[in-house]
Amino acid sequence: MSAIAPDVGGVEETAVWTLYHRAEEALRRNGIVDDPKAVEIYRRIDYPFRRRFGPPQRAFAVRTLAFDREVRAFLSSAPDGQVVGLGEGLETQRYRVDNGRVAWLTVDLPDGIRLRERFITPDARHRHLATDARDPGWMDLVDPARPCFIVAQGLLMYLPEREVRRLLQAVGHRLPGAWMLFDAMPAWLVRWTRLGLPAGPRYVAPAMSWSARESQRATFRRWVPSLAEAETVEYEYPSGFTRRALAGVRRWPALRAVMPTVFRLRFGPTDEPGAGEALRSVSDR
Ligand SMILES: C[S@@+](CC[C@H](N)C(=O)[O-])C[C@H]1O[C@@H](n2cnc3c(N)ncnc32)[C@H](O)[C@@H]1O
Repeated sequence: MSAIAPDVGGVEETAVWTLYHRAEEALRRNGIVDDPKAVEIYRRIDYPFRRRFGPPQRAFAVRTLAFDREVRAFLSSAPDGQVVGLGEGLETQRYRVDNGRVAWLTVDLPDGIRLRERFITPDARHRHLATDARDPGWMDLVDPARPCFIVAQGLLMYLPEREVRRLLQAVGHRLPGAWMLFDAMPAWLVRWTRLGLPAGPRYVAPAMSWSARESQRATFRRWVPSLAEAETVEYEYPSGFTRRALAGVRRWPALRAVMPTVFRLRFGPTDEPGAGEALRSVSDR
């Protein structure tokens, strides 16, 4: 068994947190995700998962299913497309949705990539880049001739709003035509983490920074006037009480606002003169 390096903490440790919940769901008899690679990695990590994070929560796998559905839809219309996973950590989406043709670029902080490469080896179709997603340098690795789908699952809530804005503006400027899928947390949950309240019996998640609700779509359009599409994506529990409760809650806008939201943006062509400014300042912090 390979033990996780003890210096993996802070925001990189969140990759272990999400892996745990996904892998446990995959191990359940009626689990909603099929993810042998996540299970394999999970079994190889020597870490007090349950003691630290508490009982497994299905919500993580529910989010994963929504992200997989969107990436599969993209790949069915663009089988030779490229997917960029920002802040991928120990996410194994590449294995779940692979069509044998897609090119994949994983971007994570150096500690995140070091951890990932203990379990996942890059190859000709799957590259890893150890860098901050706020640094637009990763966009140089995107082939402008191939359709591009950017996934940022569990990442943007850790960035201040101005950096989220600059990142979206830089993508809009550099990668017109790209899609981008990401989740956002409600304000109460962000406040919870800022107060240092626990996310598990012995786990305090790093403080989040940015929160958003559905109505943020209008703000995205202001930030990036070239946006061709700004939609929310529903996530569903497969059955049972939670599914019915979620459907009920969704009928009430005030209640929708207290739930996480998944956004899908499509960047249109741009010829705005100010876009270069946004690009230079994305990593100016
Ligand atoms: C909550 S985990 C999510 C991992 C994976 N996307 C998932 O859903 O399982 C957050 C990941 O984002 C990475 N991360 C945090 N800040 C980052 C940044 N500025 N640039 C790139 N990666 C970052 C962390 O190292 C970690 O792997």
